[in-house]
Amino acid sequence: MLDSDYSKLHKNDFGSDFFWGVSTAALQTEGAWNEDGKSASIWDTFSNKKRKIYRGHHPKIACDFYYRWEEDIQILKVLGIKNFRFSLSWSRILPDGTGRINHKGLDFYKTLCDALLKEGITPWPTLYHWDLPQVLEDRGGWTNREILGWFENYVLVIGKELGNRGIHNWMVLNEPLVFTGAGYFLGYHAPGKKGFSNFIPAMLHAALCTGIGERAMRSCQSQINIGSTYSCSYIVPKTNSEKDLSAAKRADALLNRLFIEPACGLNFPLEDLKVLRPVEKLMKAEDQKNLKANLDFIGVQNYTREIVESCWYVPYLKARLVNAKKRGVPHTEMEWEVYPESIYEMLKKFSKYMPEKPLLVTENGAAFPDHWDGGHEIKDWKRTDYLQSHIAQVQRAKQEGINVQGYFVWTLMDNFEWAEGYKPRFGLVFLDFETQRRIIKDSGKWFSKFIS
Ligand code: FCB
Repeated sequence: MLDSDYSKLHKNDFGSDFFWGVSTAALQTEGAWNEDGKSASIWDTFSNKKRKIYRGHHPKIACDFYYRWEEDIQILKVLGIKNFRFSLSWSRILPDGTGRINHKGLDFYKTLCDALLKEGITPWPTLYHWDLPQVLEDRGGWTNREILGWFENYVLVIGKELGNRGIHNWMVLNEPLVFTGAGYFLGYHAPGKKGFSNFIPAMLHAALCTGIGERAMRSCQSQINIGSTYSCSYIVPKTNSEKDLSAAKRADALLNRLFIEPACGLNFPLEDLKVLRPVEKLMKAEDQKNLKANLDFIGVQNYTREIVESCWYVPYLKARLVNAKKRGVPHTEMEWEVYPESIYEMLKKFSKYMPEKPLLVTENGAAFPDHWDGGHEIKDWKRTDYLQSHIAQVQRAKQEGINVQGYFVWTLMDNFEWAEGYKPRFGLVFLDFETQRRIIKDSGKWFSKFIS
């Protein structure tokens, strides 16, 4: 709550080469959904359908970042934020998914990166943050094995056009579990597909694309620092019963191990997730080797922990997450428990996968309702408190010798939070979506002071 509660928190303890930054994504901020030659992404289509997104919100304008990026770079400058993570919109660069390049779309990213570099801000682009071109979804999207070629071609275009412009840091995929799980199994994210027959091929292809993306970028650029990002949550069984312990083990395999392990050359964790065994039938001889990605860093994205109990009626997994609100513990607007030790546990867990490679926290942050009275201030002490307590746990990991080299807050400014629309506000900067006015929140001021 107060700075003094985290009196042990010192920026200097992280070292002068630690990357402090903020993360964003194209679909959540850019808007301009059909301008300058951009085609629709699966999220543009999905948000046009009834009852898919909170109150019918849509990302057509979002933060209008496509037109207001100069103002937002100024905000980064004012805050002293030197590392900016954003993503590239595939359907802006290749409106047909493959083939013809839309130079206006590509120029947007060239101009943005040049301007960031000019201001001394390091760009950290993510190649894919969930916004597949709809034209590719019409051909099966992530369930179609042809996506391996589509993705490689897209990355090669980026490598050739944007590589060697002073951009060294790249991320291949954002949270493959979330876009395949929510988009192709549960159906509550775009494209809204459900079931194992969709999830299993999507999972295999997303896992293969990590290595494909890494190798394609590397073939275009010699000086490169390329990683990929993974969602994760510290898993705790509800009781010590055999049933809950094994439910927790399955949840851990699904939520934390499913994508990072094949990227390390360990195969999918099928021993602990037998229901995913059908993936073996889809795998070609060369897949085993191609799943391995030579990542320069692992992006760890953590928000909460999960309490898991055995549950006979949940199909396949036979386990469920016990909701934090129902447990009566402190939680954010997403109903995610506030449990800072989770980030420490996850850094410890992920540090064992590629011990010689650094970890970066590429997302961490919190949504709380903000109260704006029309003035210049947003008093969001809960968000500040969340950030302080989590950064303190990152510091703890670092002090114990875990090689964590960066921390990026999700997110710079309030934006389109997928199926939840504009309701959850995660930003260090408040956005009045009516007027597009930006107001730096107290949490933003605190973060700025802390990293200065
Ligand atoms: C992550 C996503 C990011 C944002 C945060 C709150 O899972 O990568 O785009 O929505 O959650």
